[in-house]
Amino acid sequence: MARIPSLSLDSLKEPFYVPPTPLFLCLHLFFGSLGQVTSSYPSMASWSLMLFISLHLLPLATSASQDAFVGVNIGTAVTDMPSPTQVVALLKAQQIRHVRLYDADQAMLTALAGTGIRVTVSVPNQQILAIGQSNATAANWVARNILTHVPATNITAISVGSQVLTTIPNAAPVLVSALEYIHAALVAARLDSRIKVSTAHSSSIILDSFPPSQAFFNRTWDPVMIPLLKFLQTSESYLMLNVYPYYDYIQSHDAIPLDYALFRPLPPNKEAVDSNTLLHYTNVFDALVDAAYFAMADLNFTNIPIVVTESGWPSKGDSNEPDATPDNANTYNSNLIKHVLNNTGTPKHPGVAVSTFIYELYNEDARTGAVSEKNWGLFDSNGRPIYVLHLTGSGTMLANDTTNQTYCVAKEGVDKKMLQAALDWACGPGKVDCSAMVQGGPCYEPDNVVAHATYAFDAYYHKMGMADGTCDFKGVATITTTDPSHGGCIFPGSNGSNGTFINGTSLAPSSNSSSSGSSLTIHASSSIFRMTIFVVLLSNAVVLL
Ligand SMILES: *[C@@H]1O[C@H](CO)[C@@H](O)[C@H](O)[C@H]1NC(C)=O
Ligand SMILES: *[C@@H]1O[C@H](CO)[C@@H](O)[C@H](O)[C@H]1NC(C)=O
Ligand SMILES: *[C@@H]1O[C@H](CO)[C@@H](O)[C@H](O)[C@H]1NC(C)=O
Ligand SMILES: *[C@@H]1O[C@H](CO)[C@@H](O)[C@H](O)[C@H]1NC(C)=O
Ligand SMILES: *[C@@H]1O[C@H](CO)[C@@H](O)[C@H](O)[C@H]1NC(C)=O
Ligand SMILES: *[C@@H]1O[C@H](CO)[C@@H](O)[C@H](O)[C@H]1NC(C)=O
Ligand SMILES: *[C@@H]1O[C@H](CO)[C@@H](O)[C@H](O)[C@H]1NC(C)=O
Ligand SMILES: *[C@@H]1O[C@H](CO)[C@@H](O)[C@H](O)[C@H]1NC(C)=O
Ligand SMILES: *[C@@H]1O[C@H](CO)[C@@H](O)[C@H](O)[C@H]1NC(C)=O
Ligand SMILES: *[C@@H]1O[C@H](CO)[C@@H](O)[C@H](O)[C@H]1NC(C)=O
Ligand SMILES: *[C@@H]1O[C@H](CO)[C@@H](O)[C@H](O)[C@H]1NC(C)=O
Repeated sequence: MARIPSLSLDSLKEPFYVPPTPLFLCLHLFFGSLGQVTSSYPSMASWSLMLFISLHLLPLATSASQDAFVGVNIGTAVTDMPSPTQVVALLKAQQIRHVRLYDADQAMLTALAGTGIRVTVSVPNQQILAIGQSNATAANWVARNILTHVPATNITAISVGSQVLTTIPNAAPVLVSALEYIHAALVAARLDSRIKVSTAHSSSIILDSFPPSQAFFNRTWDPVMIPLLKFLQTSESYLMLNVYPYYDYIQSHDAIPLDYALFRPLPPNKEAVDSNTLLHYTNVFDALVDAAYFAMADLNFTNIPIVVTESGWPSKGDSNEPDATPDNANTYNSNLIKHVLNNTGTPKHPGVAVSTFIYELYNEDARTGAVSEKNWGLFDSNGRPIYVLHLTGSGTMLANDTTNQTYCVAKEGVDKKMLQAALDWACGPGKVDCSAMVQGGPCYEPDNVVAHATYAFDAYYHKMGMADGTCDFKGVATITTTDPSHGGCIFPGSNGSNGTFINGTSLAPSSNSSSSGSSLTIHASSSIFRMTIFVVLLSNAVVLL
């Protein structure tokens, strides 16, 4: 199941993305022309500006009032796949409240019962054909995989297949039927308002994504996309989209700057501007999401929200993937989470939630293909973070993020004598202030060598500025992001609060920002819209010359 566009030579031969020449041209226009476009702003006819502003602030009524969430995908191609109970323990410890599964695994759904965690389940691709051809098969699937688990398990959505159009195009003709049959079974069980039905798309079905205003769905799929969008609209569901700035970045051959892909802040005069709409783009993620809004608008659907079902960055790759690094993965995912939880929305729909599932919880070492394929995870199979996200102040997701707050603790199950020796060394030659551990001191209890060594190790580690190699003690110490402080015993590096409940600073979506007083819709004025684009393009061309 290729959930991610594969990087194999085969897929590069297939022009999933826009064919090379026009892509580069567009990318260079989009990312390389910026100062000039901005300076052409005042020369634009003011009526067209007004039109753009009113067009682009139109509300997506169905989602504008909701806060965005960040969830995590759980792929299971892991050699030592943790048991469902262990997976759920990790989710709880990390305060992950939304997950997406690639199937509807009974054991996993049972383990998730009673946790309150919101679950998107999937109909596996190989079942689409059968379900899309028989409403009875669909009803059976729902009975077996959904009805037996709700309400104990909070299933909130069903993704009917994953990237069906691009991975199993032979099932495309029955895809919409599959969604409709699953939905009908939910209606019969009166679960349709609680459980949304959709199907996750690869963003490669969207062509000409740069600039976003020119994007459209690959016309080959119009016979599927039009009824599909109609279904999503009438059932008040949402478009599920997989968004991988990583792939757009590497396939752009440096036309897209790494900083744009990683949400790194750039000076305003370096932002990409969509010359048709004058919207400023500070990152590739927003551009891809807006491209999807524009592609839907191109088919006259303007009120379907988007949920990003996959996004992420690999922490490791082959020598031909030099940007798959822990630092870049950390930067991308940390910035993505902050961006999503801030309810920033996109330039086209500011303040409209774009909830996003990170790809993915575990490194899937058993996946085939490039090294990067195995390294998209936030955790290894032991639940140890691959890197510690930088999320300060951004919300309550991923409890162990403590930015620079790390602690040095005694390893579990190590030789007590070695701990004692290390403790003696730390409080002696190591010059750690061990006074908190004397009888009557705040860290005297619990009075055992593990607790005392932990305190001494942490004190030494922080005394040394958390430098590399200062938390080892001949292998009996390890770094953790969990604050070991307890009661009145505040460990060095902690300010008393253990970072478990970072109080979110997410802003509520400004539901009034869209009330521009205009009742124009893109629907009604799309020809004017296109004409104006043309005028703006022309005027920009003049400026660029
Ligand atoms: C559109 O989709 C079809 C079917 O998958 C594919 O053959 C074609 O190359 C795609 N067009 C572009 C421009 O990617
Ligand atoms: C289930 O999820 C829905 C949607 O997020 C939420 O409104 C509801 O309160 C949840 N129910 C439980 C029992 O957690
Ligand atoms: C399947 O569709 C037929 C025809 O619309 C309908 O009579 C039947 O009740 C449906 N069966 C199920 C299980 O929904
Ligand atoms: C969208 O609406 C416009 C104007 O009503 C119409 O001309 C066009 O054919 C529609 N497009 C589609 C794909 O339905
Ligand atoms: C959060 O949203 C506000 C207003 O919507 C915006 O000004 C700010 O730049 C956003 N911050 C981030 C980190 O996206
Ligand atoms: C974290 O550490 C880095 C490098 O040591 C520093 O630049 C940054 O300001 C620190 N962040 C916080 C929130 O303390
Ligand atoms: C993350 O936090 C949980 C709960 O506080 C803890 O059990 C786990 O050990 C922590 N992981 C790391 C690597 O610190
Ligand atoms: C850390 O957070 C947990 C969970 O709320 C709490 O039980 C514990 O007492 C906290 N520790 C400190 C030192 O605040
Ligand atoms: C810890 O202290 C820093 C600096 O004083 C503060 O910014 C941060 O909010 C504190 N952390 C928590 C979790 O209270
Ligand atoms: C977060 O902060 C708000 C406002 O300061 C407060 O009302 C709320 O109780 C806090 N939530 C938590 C979980 O601390
Ligand atoms: C939004 O608009 C309504 C009606 O105009 C008003 O009652 C409400 O206070 C406004 N809310 C905000 C947050 O401005």
